[in-house]
Amino acid sequence: MPTNNKSINRRDWLRATALFTGGLTILPSMLQGLQAKAAGIAALKDPATSSLQDIPADVISPMGDSTVVRTTTASSLQADALAEPRIPGVLKARLFANENPFGPSSPAKKAMIESMDSGYQYPFMLLRDLEAKICAYEGIDAKMLMTSAGSSPLLLGTALTLLGNGGNIVSADPTYDDLPTRGEKIKATWIKVPLKSDYTHDLDAMEKAINADTKLVYICNPNNPTGTIVDTAALKAFCERVSKKVPVFVDEAYIDYLPDPAATTLIDSVKKGQNIIIARTFSKVYGLAGLRIGYVIAQPAMIERLGNYSATGGYALSLPAITAALASYNDKGYIDEVKKKMVASKQFLYDTLKSEGYTYIPSYTNFVMFPLKMEGQRFVEEMNKRGVGLRNWKLNNQDWCRISIGRMDEMQAFAAAFKELS
Ligand SMILES: Cc1ncc(COP(=O)(O)O)c(C=O)c1O
Repeated sequence: MPTNNKSINRRDWLRATALFTGGLTILPSMLQGLQAKAAGIAALKDPATSSLQDIPADVISPMGDSTVVRTTTASSLQADALAEPRIPGVLKARLFANENPFGPSSPAKKAMIESMDSGYQYPFMLLRDLEAKICAYEGIDAKMLMTSAGSSPLLLGTALTLLGNGGNIVSADPTYDDLPTRGEKIKATWIKVPLKSDYTHDLDAMEKAINADTKLVYICNPNNPTGTIVDTAALKAFCERVSKKVPVFVDEAYIDYLPDPAATTLIDSVKKGQNIIIARTFSKVYGLAGLRIGYVIAQPAMIERLGNYSATGGYALSLPAITAALASYNDKGYIDEVKKKMVASKQFLYDTLKSEGYTYIPSYTNFVMFPLKMEGQRFVEEMNKRGVGLRNWKLNNQDWCRISIGRMDEMQAFAAAFKELS
């Protein structure tokens, strides 16, 4: 009997242990579900989205550069896992996520290291300092600014705020599809307006596409994935007219790569009272993509609405991210240095493509699109095998590659692999 008892006890113990460890395994997904529910509940509080019964969990989960969705049959949840391609062997060139491979500035790195001892503190005060710095530079009131862990959570917050009751979003095609794709998940329709033959936004066609159900217009300037820009005067005039009817979201993630961002940004139009939301990020020219920090600038009433659906403030942003952003914001010397190195790498890429008999879309950013001479997915796989990560695209029935501009050694790795395939 004692043996029996012992064996029963061990079985019970084993079962209890299995339940416990199983519980640990499913805990993250349970938490994700709870987060999704919490967002759904929050959404119900806003009369603007009161008919929203349930927000699918994959709208809440991070999607990353949703370009992956376009080139695979993966769902958006899988897309997150796929955002970083599985590259067999050594990754010699990381050219798939439009990052800044020159990394954070030296002052930013030093400040982050020095901030470590304060890591136990919520960074409320520090965030206030950063927000004050941005507001002073842009000449805006603090009520017009909202920061978050990258601009992605703010794109999601905008989709949840403005597209939760259906309707439609108008954008160019192709463009950065994170926000429109989020909208589709919560039952909005995405009206895609093809780019013009020079791969720039067709503002006239976009304006014509707006109808009574349009809830948002999305413009990515410079545009991802084409690297093209919209004429500033034309965009200002478009926004002035259109924003009287419907909010316009101008995603300026790559604007810092332009020669004169201050002359191109639409922030002045927001300051004039227009219903425009501008998104900015520290992920690109500031080299802080892994730290996660970005912001939007909009009318105070819109900021208040977006705040209902966006993780923001000292509970959402990390101390190192804010510290790094504070140390590098508008550091002209560092930005010019990054741009100089990026331009040299881009010129090397242009020369390589030309010498191999390829064309490309001249780019204003840190990535370039060029038409391929083989099936896109196969090209990416072959390049991955050679340690080079990049992305493919389908546009106008043609396979394209989008390549981010890396360090010179990365561009040389690309050139060596490309010459084997071209
Ligand atoms: C146009 C555009 N907007 C927004 C983002 C998101 O950037 P983050 O969340 O890192 O600020 C990206 C990322 O690549 C992008 O290309």
